[in-house]
Amino acid sequence: MSLQVPPKTRLEAIRLSALECTQCSLADGRNQVVFGGGDPSAGLMLIGEAPGAAEDLQGEPFVGRSGELLWQLLADVGIAREMIYITNIVKCRPPENRDPKRVEIAACATWLDRQLQLIQPRVVCTLGNFATRRIRGDQTGIMSLRGRQEKMMLSGYPTTLYPLLHPAAALRSTRNLKFMREDIARLPQILSDPHSG
Ligand code: URA
Repeated sequence: MSLQVPPKTRLEAIRLSALECTQCSLADGRNQVVFGGGDPSAGLMLIGEAPGAAEDLQGEPFVGRSGELLWQLLADVGIAREMIYITNIVKCRPPENRDPKRVEIAACATWLDRQLQLIQPRVVCTLGNFATRRIRGDQTGIMSLRGRQEKMMLSGYPTTLYPLLHPAAALRSTRNLKFMREDIARLPQILSDPHSG
């Protein structure tokens, strides 16, 4: 009998400790920690910015207006919610939906790093500037990275990074919506490419 604890069990243990997290002041105003969810063995991981009001109430990422658009755009190309693991760089809602602060992103880094280590996604789509900067570790803007594949090591494992606009940006502008739709249209081919990852 193997004594190794399966990744799903370890992920659940990490989720349970994240629910108690008080590493930054966002803990004071949250209703709940939004750890992430979906299929950890799916091969595709989506990483957003931070929970909004709907997510803070329901405890699941992307259940508000941004999520509605995101799931629709993915469904349009045959990618169902069940085929994805989805999370955010910051697991608690910033007050008034303001941008997450650098200290908050740093305090939350350990949870995302552990998710990446256990899930080892072949393809990662970051959504918007904050997630893309957090994963790439530099300040390059999303407009010059969106829709471009980049191979990289993430938490020690090879991954194809494929940044997308944040759905909130696509809700604000039809030009952004067009970009996001075009970029998502290429996702099925990236996922089926045996060289991704
Ligand atoms: N925006 C995000 O970045 N994440 C969510 O979970 C919801 C909206």
